[in-house]
Amino acid sequence: GSIVHVLGARPNFVKAAPVIGALRAANAEQAVVHTGQHYDERMSEIFFHELGLPEPDVNLGVGSGSHAAQTAALLTGLEGEFTSRSPALVIVYGDVNSTIAAALVAAKLHIPVAHVEAGLRSFDMTMPEEVNRRLTDQLSDLCFATSPEAVGHLAREGVPVERVHLVGNPMIDTLLANLDKFDTARVRAEHGLPERYVLATMHRPANVDAPETAAALVRHLHGVADLADLVIPVHPRGRANLLAAGLDDHPGVHVLEPLGYIDFVAAVRGAAAVVTDSGGLQEETTILGVPCLTVRPNTERPITITHGTNRLVGFEELVPAARKVLEAGHVDASRKPPLWDGQAGPRIADVIMEYLGDQPA
Ligand code: UD1
Repeated sequence: GSIVHVLGARPNFVKAAPVIGALRAANAEQAVVHTGQHYDERMSEIFFHELGLPEPDVNLGVGSGSHAAQTAALLTGLEGEFTSRSPALVIVYGDVNSTIAAALVAAKLHIPVAHVEAGLRSFDMTMPEEVNRRLTDQLSDLCFATSPEAVGHLAREGVPVERVHLVGNPMIDTLLANLDKFDTARVRAEHGLPERYVLATMHRPANVDAPETAAALVRHLHGVADLADLVIPVHPRGRANLLAAGLDDHPGVHVLEPLGYIDFVAAVRGAAAVVTDSGGLQEETTILGVPCLTVRPNTERPITITHGTNRLVGFEELVPAARKVLEAGHVDASRKPPLWDGQAGPRIADVIMEYLGDQPA
């Protein structure tokens, strides 16, 4: 059997690209199963093209639904796929519903599982991602960690040490590999953006699902827009509530469609600051040296605070924190997390090739 990558949602695509590339260089036999969790052209296809990902061998077309309905469709679709393909190894990424579903199906079929981005913990079980992360790690034969504290979390949860590999951050591999393509001037011109702006993204259920919370958030985002123009590419999840709360009823707010990877990171690179509830963006701003205000009570990526540009803020702290960051005009970006050096993909591929070489045929 081949190595099967299971990809479903936007951040998965960014993390998988360097792993697939490194395994290709090692002449591994690979297949890509797209679950179809994300299906809009701007949430999926554009990433495959920009990142040089191979066309998926199959798309299960699972689509959206409640957690139970979506996960059930994922389990059924993936079981059929794994049964017919008999993979030598299934690789799952991050913390989305496609991740836990694939790990669970593979474990029940006695197919080994590798989890890329293992061991992250927010210790907040109200986040669906935290449930997905914890369970996926328990089911994984190989756990690839991006940071030392992730290794500690896995050890405390009883994951045998020989399963855990600190390899660095594949999302940063993709970032560094594309650095010369992030042309902020072009993106500014194409989207009519001002010279100086704050870039915002908001899509966490806790921030956008309840209309009252979304409305409160919009008031604070307008407060930021009073300080500097606010550019916000809108994820489909929060779109209706944020717009219903009047997000674009402010002259300084520029609402955009979701951007492709290259345009998005170019916009981030040129931003005076970032306001977000995304996980990956906390990491990307750390490497780009852009100040990041994360509108969440916790983060599964504390290394972006201790070794990066990130800071957690509550709703009430957002505007004062933005004012401070904009007045300072810079942030201390001298420290970077260890191993976030663009070589995580090759490290992961080395471990996988050795692991598969040791398996009885
Ligand atoms: C998912 C992940 C989240 C991740 C995010 C990145 C889970 C539990 N959550 O959240 O961790 O940060 O992806 O983007 O897996 N929709 C579209 N078009 C699409 C995809 C979604 O319109 O291509 C809309 C649908 O209305 C859907 C909603 O967005 O109901 C939510 O999509 P879903 O995949 O369930 O979760 P995300 O919020 O995208």
